[in-house]
Amino acid sequence: MGLERTLIIVKPDAVQRGLIGEVLARLERRGLKLVALKMMWMSESLAEAHYAEHREKEFFSDLVRFITSGPVVVGVVEGPNAIEVTRTMMGETNPATSPPGSIRGDLALTISQNVIHGSSSPEAAQREVALFFRPEEILSYERAIDRWVA
Ligand code: PPS
Repeated sequence: MGLERTLIIVKPDAVQRGLIGEVLARLERRGLKLVALKMMWMSESLAEAHYAEHREKEFFSDLVRFITSGPVVVGVVEGPNAIEVTRTMMGETNPATSPPGSIRGDLALTISQNVIHGSSSPEAAQREVALFFRPEEILSYERAIDRWVA
């Protein structure tokens, strides 16, 4: 089973709208396991490091301004194929083309305020998790469901 970890960020728009619980609940209900979680106000330098691959894009400064505009909730979720599963649950980058049932398709309207970030690849996940969490902040624990065999 391809057990993976991925970084998720509940973005400032979702925090402002009281959607932290809704977003995390969807990931938990899917079966993904939260192994690290914190609320923080991202510094400009952390935001620039996180989005470094988009430095040349015309929206880069808007993106950094938005993600540092208020508190976010950052977490690591773990599960089989967690990276792809989370990205599929998120929907498209642009909420306008995200299907109903996806997080952005249900909760967002515009690309500049699209509720959630999830790492895009195993390489990105490894880099982003290490950027936001020290190894000792990521917990190893078993849930009953992880042990249950039918
Ligand atoms: S992705 O996920 O890398 O394929 O998405 P991409 O389209 O390359 O976008 C990268 C991140 O930039 C955000 N984005 C924008 N922010 C503000 N304005 C505009 N126009 C815009 N276009 C894209 C997009 O939400 C991605 O952020 P994250 O946090 O990864 O979702």
